[in-house]
Amino acid sequence: MDRCFAVCVVDAAGRQQHCTAAANEVLSAALERAGILVPQACRGGACGACVGWLACGEVAYRQGVSRSRLEKLSAEGLRPALLCRATAASDLLINMPNGWNVVSVSPLSQALVRAQGGLGLT
Ligand code: FES
Repeated sequence: MDRCFAVCVVDAAGRQQHCTAAANEVLSAALERAGILVPQACRGGACGACVGWLACGEVAYRQGVSRSRLEKLSAEGLRPALLCRATAASDLLINMPNGWNVVSVSPLSQALVRAQGGLGLT
């Protein structure tokens, strides 16, 4: 069994949610499994819609993330994590951007949001 890491996400209002992520599991999947919706558009590491900012810890990317995208997102000295492609390489503390509320919702609500094309936060 793969290692598991603790993940804490914090929104701009200071609300926290916690989950665990296996080392081989993309973070968006781990968060959604815990009922935490992640805004996503391309789901391929290209658009930046799913970005969170690493306050503590390290992530890894196995595929599909453009180095130039990460460098562009890092330009202001923050450490980006593209949650649709990143996997945990350690325990993580991730700050979410403004406009992203860390709310935990039921699996039914998640399915409805997915059916309607996501949260639309880009
Ligand atoms: S959803 Fe586009 S980079 Fe993650």
